[in-house]
Amino acid sequence: MSRLEWLDRIVIGRRRRHRFSDVDGRVLDVACGTGTNFRYLPETVELVGIDISPEMLSNAEEQLADLGRDGTLLEMDAQDLAFPDDSFDAVISALSTCTFPDPVAALREMDRVCKPAGTIRLIEHGRSDVRPIARFQEWRADPHYAKSGCRWTQEPSEIVDEAGLSIEETDTGLFGMITTFEITPGGGDDR
Ligand SMILES: C[S@@+](CC[C@H](N)C(=O)[O-])C[C@H]1O[C@@H](n2cnc3c(N)ncnc32)[C@H](O)[C@@H]1O
Repeated sequence: MSRLEWLDRIVIGRRRRHRFSDVDGRVLDVACGTGTNFRYLPETVELVGIDISPEMLSNAEEQLADLGRDGTLLEMDAQDLAFPDDSFDAVISALSTCTFPDPVAALREMDRVCKPAGTIRLIEHGRSDVRPIARFQEWRADPHYAKSGCRWTQEPSEIVDEAGLSIEETDTGLFGMITTFEITPGGGDDR
């Protein structure tokens, strides 16, 4: 396991477990990356993962093989999901909206493809609520974006609100930099 994976398990692992380990049925992992979320999902789910990067998807395939799990992985833009309305019992996504050109559009798409009785679960990162850390993030925002394509001063709650989604439960941690959400679908459109 790489050092980055170890760090993720220590820092974010318990949050992934907390938000993702009780989903069931057909589950969509939006911007699944290398498949870091997969190990936290129940074995029984029907897993579909999408990402815009073929390279990430190929790593995610390896992750599935390592875990001995089945799943469908598709190259797709989170802002324009190629699924009919109400296709999934749960839509999950981690550390993703900071990289989308239009995060509000992506959240509305997650809402659209989730069944009304389903659930949307997010783990997002953003600006710290500790002033010196936030100042550092602001100072380094442009170089950080240029290097990694990540807007780390984003405010996840503002984006969720802007998408019109109904937050069922939320919590923050890691100096306010990580926010997790349980969202009730149907808030972001007029279905
Ligand atoms: C920071 S990684 C997070 C990956 C994974 N969810 C995790 O928790 O480790 C962000 C991911 O978003 C993907 N991504 C960026 N823009 C995207 C888009 N428009 N549609 C789908 N995936 C996108 C990237 O390819 C990358 O895999």
